[in-house]
Amino acid sequence: MPETLLEYIHHLQDKINQHPYSIEENFLHLPFDESIISRVKESISKSRAKPTSLKHIVAIGIGGSCWGAKAVYDALKSEKPLAEMHFLDQIEPDIIEKLALKLQNCSTDQVAIINISKSGTTAETAINHKLLRESLKNKTFPELFIRGESATNNSTQKEESVLTLPDKVGGRFSVFSSVGLLPLELAGVDTKSLLEGARQATKEIFSNPQKITQRVLSIFEAYQQEKSVYNIFIFSKELISLAEWQKQLLGESLGKDEKGLLPMISQGSRDLHSLQQYFVGGKLIVQHEILAIKGKNLFQDIIRNAIAETYQEENIPYRETVLEQLDEKTLGNFMQTKFFETLLLAHLMEVNPFGQPDVEGYKKKLNNL
Ligand code: PA5
Repeated sequence: MPETLLEYIHHLQDKINQHPYSIEENFLHLPFDESIISRVKESISKSRAKPTSLKHIVAIGIGGSCWGAKAVYDALKSEKPLAEMHFLDQIEPDIIEKLALKLQNCSTDQVAIINISKSGTTAETAINHKLLRESLKNKTFPELFIRGESATNNSTQKEESVLTLPDKVGGRFSVFSSVGLLPLELAGVDTKSLLEGARQATKEIFSNPQKITQRVLSIFEAYQQEKSVYNIFIFSKELISLAEWQKQLLGESLGKDEKGLLPMISQGSRDLHSLQQYFVGGKLIVQHEILAIKGKNLFQDIIRNAIAETYQEENIPYRETVLEQLDEKTLGNFMQTKFFETLLLAHLMEVNPFGQPDVEGYKKKLNNL
């Protein structure tokens, strides 16, 4: 194991607890910061949103501002009774119209709206919020806001309904902050276990760094051999949004300075009948992460094992992540582990994992929206 990677893990261990949120890596401290969930609960109790009567939660945000919560919610929604969550990210006026029709029949204690934007200036979020308010006409459902500390507070947002995200915590790294915890807490997700899983992952990584470094090195080695497409191959339908979350994490964190992994998502076994030909017989630029839930679907397990065997025979780089079960603790552990993997990959590739400077270009051209 290169000394630098071990040193970097030690560096992270030193840094994450120092002056929380003064450097970007401090986001790793979020699961240990008990004040966040206290503030989330306090802001819920001060608002008109009452988790016991909520039937619908609308989360408006895009990218890192909503995909963490969506990943957790979509994974769990068929496992336990949760309030129905609706995520508005890209602008789809017809979807908003339909949603508004549904919500029109609800009483004010059955719906909560959360508007999440660290910058407070993202066009998609602002427009979706406006369209939803217009469609809801005279309904006055409780609204909660999450903004970056330095974002200017819009005068329509009452102070008690605004939670803040530290400036140094990037959107895609924010699932264990109020950005993820507020919507999930309102929906009835066990956020305590989610955070516990993330803390457990952190402790495991610091006490046994070999496991993660070996995995990261195998990804990096394949990358150096021109396998720069990273296929997240899911074999459990519940994991599609989790894969979307991981796609964003890898795409925005590593895709810089003409480097990076190009993440993609395939679904087993459907995509075996569309992409497997390319993966095995086409240009050898793809490495895979096979992602599944243990014991969820025996047929899928058999097919997944056949794929793993084929990739082994064909010398195609792959690794498997099989979640022991589908619950909050396992998801928290998975997501925190992916954060570490991404930082370690960025370290090896010598790119800055924070920020997304090249996304800003299109944002500036949106004057007509
Ligand atoms: O990961 C990120 O930082 C981005 O994907 C942002 O979350 C996304 O661009 C939305 O930004 P904002 O929260 O400022 O609306």
